Amino acid sequence: MSHGIFIVIEGIDGTGKSTQVQLLAEWFAAQGREVLTSREPTDGPWGKKLRDSAASGRLEPAQELEYFLKDRRQHVEEVIAPALAAGKVLILDRYYFSTMAYQGARGFDPAEIRRRNEEFAPPPDLLLILDLEVTTAHQRIGLRGDTNNAFEQRDALDRCRQIFLSLKDEPFASIIPCNTSITEVAARLQQAVLRAGLANATPA
Ligand code: TYD
Repeated sequence: MSHGIFIVIEGIDGTGKSTQVQLLAEWFAAQGREVLTSREPTDGPWGKKLRDSAASGRLEPAQELEYFLKDRRQHVEEVIAPALAAGKVLILDRYYFSTMAYQGARGFDPAEIRRRNEEFAPPPDLLLILDLEVTTAHQRIGLRGDTNNAFEQRDALDRCRQIFLSLKDEPFASIIPCNTSITEVAARLQQAVLRAGLANATPA
């Protein structure tokens, strides 16, 4: 069975993931590869409940974790496994490393979250972690950081960032500092893809 290329882009809110997913997809497409991009939470029923909860009040931690797992299970079955079986380049905006980071920041053990996910979710060929100071990330998403709520959020996001950074020694992971321009970050991502032997083109 042919196997595509599976790349995951992660990072805290405000690091510019969705822009970089798009740029990396265009870079692969320019090399004549068939590319599919997707994101989590998905637009499926569990993903919708999770997105709605961001506006209507966050779910209780255990329930939130279960919904992310259900959403991902469906994503693997309906999108991820078929794309890889068809030999496509699949680029995801968030995956189970976000569950380790965000639900880990809510008190669950990241290693246990990972174990539960890897029972059904294939690991990526390359994990690109966009890294940025929480204060800078917060400024980018327009939060001023001077209210109680903003302080709490900053604390939680900093715990997320530390969990992402703890993945630095994984053989498939690459930490990408993204305190520079969009073009510079895009070039760093391309270089990481080339270093991993997942493409042959010269970086832009
Ligand atoms: P995000 O990609 O920021 O969505 P949007 O583009 O709609 O802003 O994801 C929404 C939130 O979900 C984000 O704050 C991170 C969180 N999240 C988790 O807590 N656990 C997970 O497993 C995933 C995939 C996301």
